[in-house]
Amino acid sequence: SARRPFIAGNWKMNLDHLQGIALVQKLAWTLKDASFDPKAVEVAVFPPFTDLRSVQTLVDAERFTVGLGAQDLSPHDSGAYTGDVSGAFLKALDCAYVIVGHSERRQGHGETDEVVNAKVLAAVRHGLVPVICVGETEEELERHGTSAVPVRQTAAALAGVPSGTPVVIAYEPVWAIGTGKVATPETAQEVCAAIRGAVAEALGADDAAATRILYGGSVKSGNIAGFMRKPDVDGALVGGASLDPVEFAGIARFP
Ligand code: G3H
Repeated sequence: SARRPFIAGNWKMNLDHLQGIALVQKLAWTLKDASFDPKAVEVAVFPPFTDLRSVQTLVDAERFTVGLGAQDLSPHDSGAYTGDVSGAFLKALDCAYVIVGHSERRQGHGETDEVVNAKVLAAVRHGLVPVICVGETEEELERHGTSAVPVRQTAAALAGVPSGTPVVIAYEPVWAIGTGKVATPETAQEVCAAIRGAVAEALGADDAAATRILYGGSVKSGNIAGFMRKPDVDGALVGGASLDPVEFAGIARFP
């Protein structure tokens, strides 16, 4: 497809800023040694908030072709929201992306579809591309089948987003996250195609054709190729394996 594959590394609550600098340095060197072509595949890392300034400075100074994103943002722009981080601050740190609605936030922080939608709108307001996470739990899978929950979450997240707004969707079945259990490429394709249908309903056919839809859940260098062969899977949101720069570079070099 015409969509540029996107390999995103979500560090979650791992690596302080010193460890983060070391990882990005090693990742950039590994990609350089492997003559990785950043035009063919886009790579980005999503460190904890406290690492962002250090990683940004390093990426800028060394001209590394690694993109930067945050793992969450506030639905508000500024003010009395102790502990929250504004999309404006992320934009000022040259973040291009922000993850919204990760299942660990939906489950652990009570983020509803409405909260996720408010955060998506905040990201868009501040010129950040939201990486919107959707996916069903094991119980939801049994009750509703494969695509119903991700499709509902996608439609809710995109409410009020104008056509022409760049977004990324990540399909992460909750039962596949950090478990070593991985969806089959066939299931990932089926759900990603259904999600693309939901994007078409919300934003129109042209936007749907341009939107990158990622698979996430126990992605490794050894299983990425099967996903990337599927027409509606445009990349991966990688957790655990993104903490090992050689393994992560191996995922980015899937072909
Ligand atoms: O954001 C990343 C996903 O939650 C996947 O995590 O690769 O450790 O299964 P994982």
